[in-house]
Amino acid sequence: MTASKPILELTGISKSFGSIHALREVDLSIATGEFFGFLGPNGAGKSTLLKVFCGFQPADTGEIRIKGQPVAADDQQARRSLGLVPQELALYDRLSAINNLRVFGGIHGLGRARIEEKGRELLESVGLWERRNDRVKDFSGGMKRRLNIIVSLLHEPDILLCDEPTVGVDPQSRNAIFEFLENLNRRGLTILYTTHYMEEAERLCRRIAIIDHGKILACDKQDRLLADAGSGCEVLIKKAPGMEPVVEAAGGQGELIEEDLTWRLVPGPGLRLSRLYAIIEEHGLSHEHLQVRQPSLEGLFLQLTGRKLRD
Ligand SMILES: Nc1ncnc2c1ncn2[C@@H]1O[C@H](COP(=O)(O)OP(=O)(O)OP(=O)(O)O)[C@@H](O)[C@H]1O
Ligand SMILES: [Mg+2]
Repeated sequence: MTASKPILELTGISKSFGSIHALREVDLSIATGEFFGFLGPNGAGKSTLLKVFCGFQPADTGEIRIKGQPVAADDQQARRSLGLVPQELALYDRLSAINNLRVFGGIHGLGRARIEEKGRELLESVGLWERRNDRVKDFSGGMKRRLNIIVSLLHEPDILLCDEPTVGVDPQSRNAIFEFLENLNRRGLTILYTTHYMEEAERLCRRIAIIDHGKILACDKQDRLLADAGSGCEVLIKKAPGMEPVVEAAGGQGELIEEDLTWRLVPGPGLRLSRLYAIIEEHGLSHEHLQVRQPSLEGLFLQLTGRKLRD
């Protein structure tokens, strides 16, 4: 398969706020038409990365290229092909949905007729047309999030940067947002998506960068990331009376991480499942206390960083 041309490229991007290194020497190349995910916990640097792309934050060092052309930190004209869905809602609460689109369309320099036409199409596509004249302050969380997304699509960007666009949204509305974005991507829009929800990255993003402390720790197609994740499985050990010897033995077989109800063993090369099962039998414990699972992005993340995606 020939790779598509890169539409966005970062080389050696670093950004500090005083002593906080938000981004450290980030290199990245995004191909046209990708649905690319940044997966990382709070404070990893995801929003900073998108802000540097958009020119809202200048990088300290490094180069950004859009469609092959180097772009200066303050060159907004070169960034017209980008649309940012910010993590914090950026809407005028006291205006109606349609008037929000008119204001943002005006900021983008779009003509009135264009705004009305595109605005209607977008409102319809996210099920908000009937509510166009209602004030945003009376919208549900999911409706606000959908409006927040379409505002960034008015000027018809080629690349959409979505910064945790489903925060505070119930599962059904989240699903509607996923389907909307997947549909846009199928029609050719390149999407960069930040999240700390593993399930979102698993569903939406074929290629993923795992990011923590401002560094990209791994970046590849999901299946390759998981295939490279050590022994190819993880073991959950239930916290139950009598399981202490199993936990102790597991400690020497890889990285053991304590969770609320379980210990999670991300195996190293010394994994000996038979030893764990033997201890269970010796002590007359239930086999169900031990669960062997397919590797997950969460497991990979733990392996790379020793911590969980969500605090
Ligand atoms: N304007 C700023 N001034 C000072 N520190 C900042 C600023 N913006 C970000 N930071 C710091 O940079 C680091 C990365 O922040 P960033 O917002 O990019 O993380 P994130 O991955 O988006 O986190 P979250 O999941 O919580 O949104 C954090 O330590 C944060 O406190
Ligand atoms: Mg953020």
